[in-house]
Amino acid sequence: MLRRLHPDQPDAFAFTADNLAWAEGQITKYPEGRQASAIIPLLWRAQEQEGWLSKPAIETVADMLGLSYIRALEVATFYFMFQLQPVGKIAHIQVCGTTSCMICGAEDLVAVCKEKIAPEPHALSADGNFSWEEVECLGSCSNAPMAQIGKDYYEDLTAERMGEIIDELAAGKVPVPGPQNGRYAAEPLGGLTSLTDHENGKPQYNASVDLAVSIGDTVKRIDGTEVPLIMPWQGKAANVAKRPAREVRPAEGVPADATGTTEQEAQATSKAKPPSKSDPAGATDAPVGEKPAVLASARDGGPDDLKKIKGVGPKLEKLLHSMGFFHFDQVAAWTDEEVAWVDENLEGFIGRVSRDNWVAQARTLAEDTAS
Ligand code: FES
Repeated sequence: MLRRLHPDQPDAFAFTADNLAWAEGQITKYPEGRQASAIIPLLWRAQEQEGWLSKPAIETVADMLGLSYIRALEVATFYFMFQLQPVGKIAHIQVCGTTSCMICGAEDLVAVCKEKIAPEPHALSADGNFSWEEVECLGSCSNAPMAQIGKDYYEDLTAERMGEIIDELAAGKVPVPGPQNGRYAAEPLGGLTSLTDHENGKPQYNASVDLAVSIGDTVKRIDGTEVPLIMPWQGKAANVAKRPAREVRPAEGVPADATGTTEQEAQATSKAKPPSKSDPAGATDAPVGEKPAVLASARDGGPDDLKKIKGVGPKLEKLLHSMGFFHFDQVAAWTDEEVAWVDENLEGFIGRVSRDNWVAQARTLAEDTAS
């Protein structure tokens, strides 16, 4: 397929102030003379902001990197992940049409897109809210047929479910990504035949769905004011947001309370802090937050099982012990400043405290332990 710039182009493009700060931070990651290597993350952020890559956006990125326009155009037109035409305001749907998905019903999914969105790929729906295209294998063949919607995969689809998903998105909801037929991941349809003990105590979602739900940017445009997510390269000072897991998440622009966000969840989310404007890329080594009180060893009776905190495994528990944290009530008492310090100092796990809302979890666990 020929990839050409769209005939209708905006007059100009500008990163938002926060995205610009982020982009400039990215450029500093590369050694002198190699800044051009930042082109893909910068083009991607431009697309995350606008939904697609316009000519002015590509040229803006080229100017930032000191590249001739043709070099940036070569990259933008080569990679299919870059959209060169306007996409739906709510979502762009990429239906996999390769062998496994084709055999399992991709044509039916495309038919739904044609009927509900537009007869032709890359065309906007009448209300401008959706667009679609057929793409090559997205690597989720064992869950065929599937589609990528925004940034996440919706798998084990049927035509009926595809239609429902589009309707839910149109209604301002974001259906939980992953298998849509009740499968947990890519296990046999009839259930596990080995390692069945893994069924016990497994998390609500498989790892990739859990990540998608936690990050919460399936169909969200990024203007840079979002609390950084699981991207430690965003800067040492960056905290990580926790989006409460729920069956259906609100889409951008839909009030959170419309889907029943609890007060506790709202507080947990609002406690997460945005990156420092003065140091958005963490370029300085200024200390972050405030170190909480620590213990030399666990109190009598031994340490609490910190692995009960969702997101804490044996490795992280060991790290917490080495830092002087042994008990739920210690974690439960952390202030915002202390959370920031721990988030920053969890080597290899930066940002996990905020991302998984340890403080709220630990409060509940501490109460359970005390009662
Ligand atoms: S064939 Fe569709 S994901 Fe591989």
